[in-house]
Amino acid sequence: MKLIKNILMASAVTGVLVSSTFANADLVAKGEKIFNTKNLGNCLACHAVNGKNIDGPGSMGPKLQYLSAWPEQALYDKIYDPYTTNPISQMPAFGKNGWLSDSEIKALVAYLKTIN
Ligand code: HEC
Repeated sequence: MKLIKNILMASAVTGVLVSSTFANADLVAKGEKIFNTKNLGNCLACHAVNGKNIDGPGSMGPKLQYLSAWPEQALYDKIYDPYTTNPISQMPAFGKNGWLSDSEIKALVAYLKTIN
């Protein structure tokens, strides 16, 4: 009986994960577009990511990797205002400066969470 219960639990958990992955697909695509687009996030100007090379004048930022391990809030805060965790950051405060909206930053976070 306990075994059956565990199997049911496991499939319930898997079901949740699968459906949230589908629900996020649009958000991830939106975030990736913001990341790559010059007049939106323009993150690619400073960050290489997932096999894409920097598309800009310099290589000021680190290559982005292992971000799937970051808590969503930490990623949000980094984009909103990197100076809170790094007072000498060269990365602009996209949220605080009003360059990206709350929903645009959330889409970026969804995309960054896919980066291993
Ligand atoms: C002008 C260059 C520049 C741009 C544009 C830029 N960044 Fe950064 N970014 C940096 C630098 C420099 C760092 C390292 C210093 C720090 O952590 O604050 C960094 C750090 C990060 C980190 C932490 C990486 C780690 O492994 O510690 C993340 C996440 C990040 N940037 C995401 C973004 C996103 C998303 C965008 C687009 C909205 C963006 N960055 C745009 C320069 C930039």
